[in-house]
Amino acid sequence: MRSSVMYAAALIVGGLCAAAPMLVATNAVDRAVAATAKDGLEPVESFNAIKDQRARSVALFEEAGKVIQSPRCLNCHPAGDRPTQTEAMRPHIPLVVRGPDGFGAEGGLRCGTCHHATNFDPANVPGHPEWHLAPIEMAWQGKSLGQICEQLKDPKRNGGMDMAALVHHMAEDSLVGWGWHPGGDRKPAPGTQAEFGQLFKAWVESGAVCPG
Ligand code: HEC
Ligand code: HEC
Repeated sequence: MRSSVMYAAALIVGGLCAAAPMLVATNAVDRAVAATAKDGLEPVESFNAIKDQRARSVALFEEAGKVIQSPRCLNCHPAGDRPTQTEAMRPHIPLVVRGPDGFGAEGGLRCGTCHHATNFDPANVPGHPEWHLAPIEMAWQGKSLGQICEQLKDPKRNGGMDMAALVHHMAEDSLVGWGWHPGGDRKPAPGTQAEFGQLFKAWVESGAVCPG
């Protein structure tokens, strides 16, 4: 029994070594992407000029959408069972899956094996104490911004949150906040979490109208 466990561990380590050159190659491309200008977010006031309230609401969501549809968020909100990585949002290497609790397959590679409480920049590994995959009903990849918007408002698909809880999650949640402090060679989400939270709140206050 014990020897079969050790054999499995050796396989995993061997698999990681085989994947290593690939990780390095992709990171060089990402570094070039990350080196391009850091995008900002328009402040809430700049939307006051839009007199039609519905149009203003949609415009506010579209601005917040620059964050929601950034790779920092989408990589953890995939359409399947496997997270994605890097600016290119390619499938996670090595193969890991959501598992029953979002933290990885039972008895398999758990997220916390590699992702620790904080970013570990020497190895380019992002970290957070609650690092795990969003549930499948919160999948954002492959959806239009309008579809993501409708899903966000739906308590059956947003973890049972009302609008106040949703605003709080966007503005205060520290796993969301990781998106602006991603470490390594990753490009942060646009603007700041505070600016993003203000846009999202203004969208709710303007009637939470989704893009068509
Ligand atoms: C490390 C993975 C991870 C990252 C990165 C991540 N999320 Fe999530 N997200 C989750 C998990 C897991 C949940 C489920 C709720 C929970 O357990 O906190 C979730 C739930 C949510 C929810 C509530 C449910 C929904 O989808 O309606 C929102 C909103 C959300 N995330 C926004 C974001 C935003 C915005 C970003 C990027 C700035 C982001 N997340 C980045 C893992 C992640
Ligand atoms: C064997 C180690 C290992 C395990 C286990 C692991 N990861 Fe990763 N993960 C990494 C490494 C290394 C990176 C950085 C890759 C890069 O950017 O080149 C990474 C990056 C990511 C990213 C990309 C972040 C971004 O925006 O660029 C996500 C999302 C992610 N992991 C989610 C998960 C989830 C969820 C689990 C558990 C189901 C998990 N990982 C398990 C090693 C691991």
